[in-house]
Amino acid sequence: MASSSNEPVVRTQGLTKRFGNLVAVDDLNLEIHRGQVFGFLGPNGAGKTTTIGMMLGLIRPTAGSVEMFGLDVRENLNEVLPRVGAVLDNPSLYPYLSGRDNLRIMARLSGEVTDERIEQSLEAVGLLPRAEDKFQNYSLGMKQRLAVAAALLGDPELLILDEPTKGLDPAGMKEIRDLFVGLGKEGKTIFISSHLLHEVEQVCDHVAIIKGGRLIAQGVMSDLLKRGGMLELRVTDPDRAMELLRRESWVSSLVRDGELLLVGAGQEHAPEISALLAKNEIFISEMRARESTLEGFFLEVTESADG
Ligand SMILES: Nc1ncnc2c1ncn2[C@@H]1O[C@H](COP(=O)(O)OP(=O)(O)OP(=O)(O)O)[C@@H](O)[C@H]1O
Ligand SMILES: [Mg+2]
Repeated sequence: MASSSNEPVVRTQGLTKRFGNLVAVDDLNLEIHRGQVFGFLGPNGAGKTTTIGMMLGLIRPTAGSVEMFGLDVRENLNEVLPRVGAVLDNPSLYPYLSGRDNLRIMARLSGEVTDERIEQSLEAVGLLPRAEDKFQNYSLGMKQRLAVAAALLGDPELLILDEPTKGLDPAGMKEIRDLFVGLGKEGKTIFISSHLLHEVEQVCDHVAIIKGGRLIAQGVMSDLLKRGGMLELRVTDPDRAMELLRRESWVSSLVRDGELLLVGAGQEHAPEISALLAKNEIFISEMRARESTLEGFFLEVTESADG
């Protein structure tokens, strides 16, 4: 069945992964919609790579599910994966071959990529002028861009990138950022993990933040960063409250900090929130308007666990 255009490109429901006693990803509910450039922000060890592994069917979830294009990933890998391009931690490319020859090999492996598409992919990442140079002579930024070109070969609807700017200097980071902004403008859905707020902020229009495997914030980037329009709630069941509020169109962002929820909504929505939660037997012990930017919060979350 063809997927309808307004259903999420990716939806995770209750996605959980345990390694022994360690809960690497904890009941994660994400929705990524068509055309979004979605930042997946979290400090080292937050569970980003594990989440991406589960999205791509490389890691079996302990509980929960991932749907892409409306299909359960594990049950439809052969249908889903050709529609996705991924750049993971260590792209394995041949050092002695040129950038173009590396792509030719991959194209041959996949069997469905034309020469023209190879050239388009090289062009998209700005490597056409250096396509004949050996991979080993590329700068780190160029190597990373070639990995993106490889992911673009199949003209994927969704690009998933795990820390694409890791190890790059500021100029290399900017090259990659510009590339994603460009791809985003072409309407591709892009999912980028990062532990740098600054980076996500410059590229992404939507963001989810995880820490310790748990989702602690999600929303429209500009709303999360802008000053004001937040309600701070203390509730009896923050998980469920977050779940319910997430579905309301007037909620622009959600942040959870223990029992506290920060809801991106104006004070005029306070009665609606009370009613919605009460109807679901969730009770509010405290509610107040908060006027502050979330930047400090972001920095705290993303910088506290470096290294
Ligand atoms: N195969 C594994 N076995 C045991 N523990 C694992 C395994 N893979 C990941 N972990 C643990 O799960 C947690 C989440 O790891 P993950 O690699 O998903 O984090 P991350 O957000 O990608 O971090 P980073 O920014 O360092 O890449 C960490 O505590 C990690 O040590
Ligand atoms: Mg990682």
